[in-house]
Amino acid sequence: MYNEKPIIYLHFDTLTSTNTWVKENAVSLNPDVLTCVTALAQTQGRGRYSRPWISPRSQNVYTTFYCCIESQAPYLFNLGQVLSLSCARILISRGFSPAIKWPNDLLLQQKKVAGVLCETFPVLDRVGIALGIGINANMSISELATIDQPATSLAASSSTSWDIESLVISLATAFSRDLMQLQRQGFSHFQKEYEHLLAFRGRLVLSDDGIAGFLEGVDEQGQLLLKIQDGTLHSLRANALRPID
Ligand code: BTN
Repeated sequence: MYNEKPIIYLHFDTLTSTNTWVKENAVSLNPDVLTCVTALAQTQGRGRYSRPWISPRSQNVYTTFYCCIESQAPYLFNLGQVLSLSCARILISRGFSPAIKWPNDLLLQQKKVAGVLCETFPVLDRVGIALGIGINANMSISELATIDQPATSLAASSSTSWDIESLVISLATAFSRDLMQLQRQGFSHFQKEYEHLLAFRGRLVLSDDGIAGFLEGVDEQGQLLLKIQDGTLHSLRANALRPID
């Protein structure tokens, strides 16, 4: 039995968006392996909530992983969380101390360094997944200042430049292993490690579905655990949250 999914790498010079390319070309891709699509530049890189994702040439990682899963797979919601964890690990192995901002942003010193965009679409009787990740690798401080939220890059946080190809290969290798674990064992295998890296633990936060509480961690399904005013624990699948203390 394999411990990781076989990986196929597809590399492009310029795409509008690696996620868009995957969605438009999924029919020609093998649904039973992990396809890793990268581009040197994106002309219409997209983030969550239809925000643009600034994608200057040869400076950052722009990657989308494509795979197919069973419809109703209980771990669908966890794919982005696990990719952020795989990414956190490869950053830790390079000497960084990342935190995960619920559900799958990566922060360095409270500034965003990477984000994940998970899109799904039907493929025959299964679900196609376009799981995109952007890692700000070598963007300069002046370019980072054009982003509409506090952002950093690996280079800005370490005064060293980083090899994009090696980041992609490490990430794809880590994620192919983690994806297999997720499919076999569910999110509970990752719960403690994810919780350990979760930003704002113990702080009062407000979720985008209007629930305020102290951030305790995540449950075995990867749902957010908030301790609300009456002392009870609430698990929820909010899209975003922010600290309010
Ligand atoms: C976010 O934090 O809002 C998610 C950002 C996701 C950006 C990546 S870059 C590669 C892939 N292609 C895109 O157009 N978006 C994702």
